[in-house]
Amino acid sequence: MQTLTLNLSGSDARLIGDAGLDFSAWSVERPELLTALTDPAPGYTKLPDSDLSEILAFAAQTEGKYDDLLLLGIGGSALGARMLNCAFVEPADNRLNRPRLRTVDNVDPRRLGYLLKSLNPRRTLVVVVTKSGSTAETMASFAIAQQWLRESLGDGHQKRIVAVTDPTQGDLRRLVNEEGYGRFAVPTDVGGRFSALSTVGLLPAALLGIDIKELLTGAARLRETTLNPDWQRNPALALALTLHEHHNNGRRIVSVMPYADGLSDFALWFVQLWAESLGKRADYGPTPLSALGATDQHSQLQLYTEGPKDKVVWLLSVSNLGEEIAVPPQSDELASLGYLSKRGLGELLAAELRGTTLALSKAGTPSLTLALPQLDERELGGLIYLAEAAVSITGELARLNPYDQPGVEDGKQATYALMGRPGYEDRLKEDEALESRRDGNLTSRA
Ligand code: PA5
Repeated sequence: MQTLTLNLSGSDARLIGDAGLDFSAWSVERPELLTALTDPAPGYTKLPDSDLSEILAFAAQTEGKYDDLLLLGIGGSALGARMLNCAFVEPADNRLNRPRLRTVDNVDPRRLGYLLKSLNPRRTLVVVVTKSGSTAETMASFAIAQQWLRESLGDGHQKRIVAVTDPTQGDLRRLVNEEGYGRFAVPTDVGGRFSALSTVGLLPAALLGIDIKELLTGAARLRETTLNPDWQRNPALALALTLHEHHNNGRRIVSVMPYADGLSDFALWFVQLWAESLGKRADYGPTPLSALGATDQHSQLQLYTEGPKDKVVWLLSVSNLGEEIAVPPQSDELASLGYLSKRGLGELLAAELRGTTLALSKAGTPSLTLALPQLDERELGGLIYLAEAAVSITGELARLNPYDQPGVEDGKQATYALMGRPGYEDRLKEDEALESRRDGNLTSRA
């Protein structure tokens, strides 16, 4: 049986020279780092044991009733569902009787305005996700969607709203209790970006017809693996150690580049997980980038090979991409088509990945390649858990707290102050004082 494998050879000094690492100098076992997963165990490590009955019962009840699922949330409250949708729904789109996911994770009025004009309120389920129950973007979009449903449907509109929020606190919790909307609780000890395998990601996933039990089965399997002190038997530990050492060698930019469309939103989710968890100090903070193979071979790869020597590339591949599609037979007359005759697209993608790996090695750019046997719920559940565990271990290596986000909270407070939320008057004065120092003439106009 094939199994998830992280190949580190693209980071080996014997292959890529000075930019590489000397793995033979590593201790075989690093048990001291695993305390990051056990002492105390972060909230997300308990998620594989969650009771799914409530979510599954709700998903079964809604089957066939909705054409669209309007998901309102931002950051960790939206990216998990987007990642799961991207992996399983969009490429297949064969889940009959399931709604289409429409994620609103910004407050651009053009997008929500368009959606509310085009969606049928009778056939739309609004799922509002905010752990704090107070984030400005989500609360604003929610109030607008709520009014849309109320005006279109009157009293029956309550059935078309479900909230995922803190079990007891926050304004959204108060509102849903008063209005009698459907509600699910976010575990209090799981932060936004670690919540993809909680109600935050699993409720929308179940509504979309994704097998959430399998997601947790895969996560539980990886949970065991992440507790192995031997880095050669623990890809989360190997990933954390490798990226940390590259970072300390000046490779501070990490590009995540899956060779599978279904993992493109995994890369976006990882960017948030990595940046918001590890960007905490002036002297530490790997900068994540997202890319997609083979598409970005025609864009970012130029920078990765010949640009500044400050990057490491984390490639991801899927060994079995499903049914192969072959190029129809071609004559040899056209050189740019003949060699592709009867060759599969999956075969071409695999060759492109191989080519990129070689190009990076030749250029002395370190890389790592994680291969999944196939892209199914079990494998993705495992990969999500692996990435979260790698963040926890990196937090331990860098001696920082990966679970808070003071920079993000500061941005939220600036918004509250500028929009006149009571209690933020001092903050507004502070920001206005800074703004008054801006030179209005420093512009360039067309
Ligand atoms: O990871 C995080 O904590 C953040 O990205 C949050 O998920 C994001 O700010 C949204 O917060 P909330 O769910 O409270 O609306």
